[in-house]
Amino acid sequence: MSTPPKPSNPLKAVRGTRDLLPPETALWARVEATARDVFARYGFGEIRTPIFEATELFARGVGEETDIVSKEMYTWEDRARAASEKAQSLTLRPENTAGVVRAYIEHKLGERGDLQKLFYIGPQFRRERPQRGRYRQFWQIGVEVLGPQSSGSESPVRDAEVLEMLATLLDELGVRGWRLELNSVGSSEDRKRYNVALREALAPVKAQMCEDNQRRAETNPLRVLDSKEPADQELINALPKIADYLDDASRAHFAAVLAALDACGVAYAVNPRLVRGLDYYTRTTFEFTVPDGQGLGTQNALLGGGRYDGLSEMLGGPKAPGIGFAIGEDRLILTLQAQDGSKSVDAPHPEWTFAKALDAYIAPMGVERNAAALALARELRRAGLSVEVGDGTFRLKKSFEAADKVARHIVILGEDELATEMATVKTFATGTQVKVSRAELAAALRA
Ligand code: HAM
Repeated sequence: MSTPPKPSNPLKAVRGTRDLLPPETALWARVEATARDVFARYGFGEIRTPIFEATELFARGVGEETDIVSKEMYTWEDRARAASEKAQSLTLRPENTAGVVRAYIEHKLGERGDLQKLFYIGPQFRRERPQRGRYRQFWQIGVEVLGPQSSGSESPVRDAEVLEMLATLLDELGVRGWRLELNSVGSSEDRKRYNVALREALAPVKAQMCEDNQRRAETNPLRVLDSKEPADQELINALPKIADYLDDASRAHFAAVLAALDACGVAYAVNPRLVRGLDYYTRTTFEFTVPDGQGLGTQNALLGGGRYDGLSEMLGGPKAPGIGFAIGEDRLILTLQAQDGSKSVDAPHPEWTFAKALDAYIAPMGVERNAAALALARELRRAGLSVEVGDGTFRLKKSFEAADKVARHIVILGEDELATEMATVKTFATGTQVKVSRAELAAALRA
């Protein structure tokens, strides 16, 4: 048996994970409520898939060569517990698109014939080097829109609608200065031709690049375009652009997405280097960023997404073109906090704290009144009020101080009050103190 930890050496959350505490969690709840509200207006329903899946799902869906699958997954051999079970390799989900498409196939959602518009909010896991805005357990708020071709799932209108919805969501959340960058990475055939051209262009120059880019030039040349290595930027900018390798259909699709965004008045910038780090993307890919210095440091991608027209087939399913995105919720929160000017979680925006959020604080005078105070709290809470109950051991001064921190009114419950079925109510904002009958108490506290 291992020795229990010494009290002087308390256990901590694992590197790259963190606890979210009140009052900051009130902001998380507000963000999620706003997202749910916006998604509902656009006709999305919630999907909840398991936190772990068969490792093969991500190997096939996200791609063996990607950083995520090759070095960032939490994978383990799950032992069989009975002769009827097989041991299998399982992985904590590093992202949710592959899981949603697996569920789409498993539950034959395509046979319903219509467009599936799904959203999810939940934790994802990647073994990355932790830094501000980058964690090993992080949260994503995402959507996926997919369906058979007959449902219109391949239409550029879907791409533009998803992007317009994101613009609306960020505006409603109050995110300032967001920037939409997008690109088309074409069909898988377009990308094959582009990869050949990239390899050719990289061959004579790759020796001058950093070690990482030399390796990428061999294993997955598209990844060179993501590189932020300052010394390599000039060489990278001179590489061929994917836009020149798109076939007519991909080119027309992208033009239609841009035209629809123009019609909606959603501003964007085409970034020919935006290829994204997951293998399933086809055609439209995009990211929303916020300006440097707004809470995210170098991790300035607030969210990313794109189209994945071949993913369902890669996972053994029917043809089901789709598009989606995932917002990094941790990064969204950091941005909102930075933009609000609150430097730390200790000084959050008043709206996100619980300060003065309660209707009433019940102060029992003496421990004999504790049970009656709880019974009164039950009555008021059931009537829809938010209430906290003090303790009969508190002196009156302490009760007032505690109440003043959290509630708008204090309800004093002493012997007299109980005998007469009355309560003494003080309202902090006005300083007034009145006696109210039990029957009228809820209404008085609501005021
Ligand atoms: P992704 O670009 O890998 O795409 O992740 C989306 C967002 O998740 C990023 O823009 C970032 O905000 C956040 N994120 C990623 N890694 C971390 C991390 N270690 N710590 C904090 N935040 C992080 C996807 O996951 C795709 N499944 C998106 C998608 C949906 N594409 C189509 N549908």
